[in-house]
Amino acid sequence: MRVKSSERGRDALAGLHVVVNAGPTYEDIDPVRFLGNRSSGKMGFAIAEAASLAGAAVTLVAGPVALATPAKVALRVDVRSARQMRDAVLEAVRGADVFIATAAVADWRVATYSSRKLKKGARGAPVLELVENPDILAEVAALDRRPFVVGFAAETERLAERAREKLVHKKLDMLVANLVDEHVGIGADDNAVELFWPGGSEALPRASKLEIATALVARIAQRFRDRSRA
Ligand code: CTP
Repeated sequence: MRVKSSERGRDALAGLHVVVNAGPTYEDIDPVRFLGNRSSGKMGFAIAEAASLAGAAVTLVAGPVALATPAKVALRVDVRSARQMRDAVLEAVRGADVFIATAAVADWRVATYSSRKLKKGARGAPVLELVENPDILAEVAALDRRPFVVGFAAETERLAERAREKLVHKKLDMLVANLVDEHVGIGADDNAVELFWPGGSEALPRASKLEIATALVARIAQRFRDRSRA
C-alpha cells in the first residue's frame, strides 16, 4: 500500500500525549519458565514511531521485545507481565489524549508462581491452574476521564462480526482488527487490517507495518479531532 503524502500528517497529533502498549506479556511459572505468545511488538513500535512523527509526545509501554526505541518516542517503560503492564499503562494514561492498545496481553497467568524450579518426579507432569489477567483496554475505556481509546483484535475467523462485538463490548472509539495465521499478523513484517468505529469501517490492504501504522495514525488523528469537535 502506498501512503499518500496527505496521510503522513506531520502535525496531525501535535500537542497530544499518546500512550501505546506493545509486545507480548510473559507470565512466569517458576524462575526458568513462563507462558508467552508470538507477538514481536513490531506493529506497536511502528505505531509509536508514526505517532511521534505526527507530532505526539509518545509513551511506549513495552512487554519483553527485542526492538530499539524509535528515535522520537519521548518515554519507554519496559514491563514483563500483564499486571506490570496494567500498572504502567494506568499511570501513563493519566491526562493522556489517546491510548492505543496494540499489546498481546496474556489472557491468563498461573494461579500460583513457584519460587522454586518445578521438578520432574514420580507425581508426573504438573497441572497448571490458570487465572484471568486484568483486561487493560477495558479498564482504560472504563475510566471517568478516559482518553480516546483504540483497541486491536487478532482473530482467526468471522473478523467483522467479532470486531463489532468488541467495539461495543469494550466501549472503544476505534478497533483495528486483523486476521491472523502463521504468515500474516502476529510476528510478521507485513500486516493487513480492517478499521472499525461506531458507524463506519475501512480496510487497509496488506503493507509493511510502518505503512499501516502511518495510515492508522492519520485515521486516529482524524477521528480524535472529529470527536473533540462534536
Ligand atoms: N487486551 C488487554 N488486556 C487483556 C487482553 C487483551 O488490554 N488482558 C487488549 C489487547 O491489547 C487488544 C484487545 O484487548 O487491544 C483485544 O485483544 P484480543 O486478545 O483480540 O481480545 P480479547 O478481549 O482477549 O478476546 P478473545 O481473546 O476472546 O478474542
